[in-house]
Amino acid sequence: MKGIVFTEFLDLVEKKFGIEMVDSIIENSKLASGGVYTSIGTYSFSEMLQLLQHLSSKSGISIDNLLLIYGEHFFSVVEKSYPGLLATYKDPIEMLSSIENHIHVEVRKIYPDAELPTFIVEEKKINSLIMVYKSSRSMHHFGLGLMNKTFEHFKSSAEIVLEKIKEDGTEVRFIINKN
Ligand code: HEM
Repeated sequence: MKGIVFTEFLDLVEKKFGIEMVDSIIENSKLASGGVYTSIGTYSFSEMLQLLQHLSSKSGISIDNLLLIYGEHFFSVVEKSYPGLLATYKDPIEMLSSIENHIHVEVRKIYPDAELPTFIVEEKKINSLIMVYKSSRSMHHFGLGLMNKTFEHFKSSAEIVLEKIKEDGTEVRFIINKN
């Protein structure tokens, strides 16, 4: 997992819960990195999982809800860091249906070792989209947060329903209906 995912995460934790929470979740985890991250480095996903687990038990917020909030925040990182990629799109359905064949392809050019999910488009209409998310990391709620903000970015909104295909969240169907 790329360092930018860790640095932005810890920044957000500090902003929402304070520096004591950052120190506490780092101290309670067994981190090969020692909890020191640079945005261009690459770290094990198990470090992120431990940080999320400790933040969840300390805050009482579920891991899915933490990932949703973090995904919504991460969209602003994307807006700031990759404005050109977003400018390619004029419509949220067009953008979301292009994650697999364009957006994450470009991400992989920047970070060849990025750990990205797979999105398979099952059905695409002008105002709706059905896609299946696949990833061993089960970060579907991070995706949901990014999707919510994608609609907001285009001054639009949508109803998004998640349907678990695998109980562990490694395969999830997103049913997206633009309002
Ligand atoms: C992961 C970039 C749009 C879904 C990532 C990562 C980066 C990235 C850098 C981390 C990879 C790693 O840690 O190794 C971008 C950029 C985007 C974009 C630059 C737009 C310009 C989206 C959108 C979605 C999405 C719109 C909506 C669903 C995800 C998910 C992950 C991820 C779910 C977590 C990894 C996983 O589940 O396996 N993306 N992304 N991305 N991205 Fe994107």
